[in-house]
Amino acid sequence: MEKLAIASDHAGFELKESIIAFLQKKGVKLQDFGPVNSDRVDYPDYGISIAKAIQEKKVDRGIVICGTGVGMSIVVNRFPGIRGTLCSDLYTAKMCREHNDSNILIMGGRVIGKGLAEEIVDTWLNTPFEGGRHQKRLDKIEDIDRKLETKGDI
Ligand code: RB5
Repeated sequence: MEKLAIASDHAGFELKESIIAFLQKKGVKLQDFGPVNSDRVDYPDYGISIAKAIQEKKVDRGIVICGTGVGMSIVVNRFPGIRGTLCSDLYTAKMCREHNDSNILIMGGRVIGKGLAEEIVDTWLNTPFEGGRHQKRLDKIEDIDRKLETKGDI
């Protein structure tokens, strides 16, 4: 059973709460990394907590939500091994799993509605990675981090 976590900032709080309720109704367990209310917070703090939990293998995949999803995208994709994908449509939600092995789903709480967000979450959670030629491409992405760390260049 995969371990899942979710986090947001204040702009994504309402959608976070509705996604938690949606998944709980389906019997899907997930850890809530906060925030606990809609008071103003800084999205990097919450994006970092999910990215680190995945890197440290405390959870397998995460969902992060801010106003547009852009701030969270910038934050989580700075972490090696994180493949965060901003989704506002079902095609992207499917393809980012099949081709990119997305391990963080990012959404904009001020961009998409609850109904679409639920379908995106469902699709993203239930679509497997295809591997094969796509794994080779992901390996090339991992190489970027390795080379930057060792040589300072790619
Ligand atoms: C918060 O006002 C907003 O800037 C944030 O949720 C996000 O959209 C940033 O990218």
